Amino acid sequence: MSTFAARIIGSGSYLPQRILSNAELASRLDTTDEWIRTRTGISERRIAAEQEFTSDLACHAAQQALQMAGISANTLDMILVATTTPDLVNPATAVRVQRKLGALQRQIPAFDLQAVCAGFIYALAVADNFIRSGSARRILVIGAETMSRAIDWQDRTTCILFGDGAGAVILQADQQPGVGILSTHLHADGQYEDLLRTEGGISHGMLLNPLSGQGFLRMRGNEVFKQAVKALEEIVDQTLEANGLDKAQIDWLVPHQANIRIIQSTAKRLGMTMDRVVLTVDRHGNTSAASVPLALDEAVRDGRIQPGHLLLLEAFGGGFTWGSALVRW
Ligand code: ACO
Repeated sequence: MSTFAARIIGSGSYLPQRILSNAELASRLDTTDEWIRTRTGISERRIAAEQEFTSDLACHAAQQALQMAGISANTLDMILVATTTPDLVNPATAVRVQRKLGALQRQIPAFDLQAVCAGFIYALAVADNFIRSGSARRILVIGAETMSRAIDWQDRTTCILFGDGAGAVILQADQQPGVGILSTHLHADGQYEDLLRTEGGISHGMLLNPLSGQGFLRMRGNEVFKQAVKALEEIVDQTLEANGLDKAQIDWLVPHQANIRIIQSTAKRLGMTMDRVVLTVDRHGNTSAASVPLALDEAVRDGRIQPGHLLLLEAFGGGFTWGSALVRW
């Protein structure tokens, strides 16, 4: 068994230019800025331009991460893209990212991973295991979404929640003990599909149809909310226990950004004040698999996250799927 740990040596993120404010949504729908802010914590979100695809967002974030790490894309051993909104059904978005980054010299593996909002944590866990086993030394992990394309813009219960964006990290094998990803924890429970799903799909024979309103993301938000709070409370306890740590030792909570109230309840469970929680939900909305790496990159670049800090990353999403990662920066 190898003794490698996966250390994050670079991060990056990208948001499309177009800002969609609550006020603009309220001008089109039966909603208000006040309702959206009070119930979700969201003030605005970003929307990808017409010719901007998930792979484009992913590439911008990846280029920043490569730059921070000071490495070339051709030194990567693998590219993983977590997304629920791929450019095409096939080829995988990760393969398009490989081409757009020019990482073509060594024919490295590139594939997508679909675990909805928990996708980045799932991808991080997969990459961590490739590195721990000694099968790969350097992996690019991206969470990228164009959720705006899966949304029914007439449905006020969902369209106010989501936004577009991408975040990326580069993991590298490291032999120093106690650094990088300390543990990952993944779960799924397939019995809740009716509470949250996107009805469009090739096999279902039902693709997006804006005219009929078919094929879009549908959610029974209230019920999802309760399950999310419960699952996240359990997984933070599980993560601390697996590492023999006390909650007071966590420096930063980097949560999935679905709803400020869900984040507050996880922080409360950890006994953390909100100034130790990385928050982007107000400006990004829910960017699904992109939300955790977007938040992580923001706090790395503004200097909040420092070497030696202990970070708890967590996410919950459709499936249901959920997961966490404990990281020593
Ligand atoms: N503006 C005004 N009123 C609204 C809006 C809106 N945009 N949307 C719903 N309402 C109304 C409802 O119709 C309802 O009215 P009624 O009482 O007359 O029936 C009332 O507001 C309350 O609705 P609830 O659904 O109970 O509101 P809630 O406080 O639960 O907030 C929300 C809804 C924000 C969706 C919340 O439930 C939530 O965040 N859920 C979790 C989302 C999540 O974490 N998803 C997982 C990740 S996403 C993924 O994986 C793709």
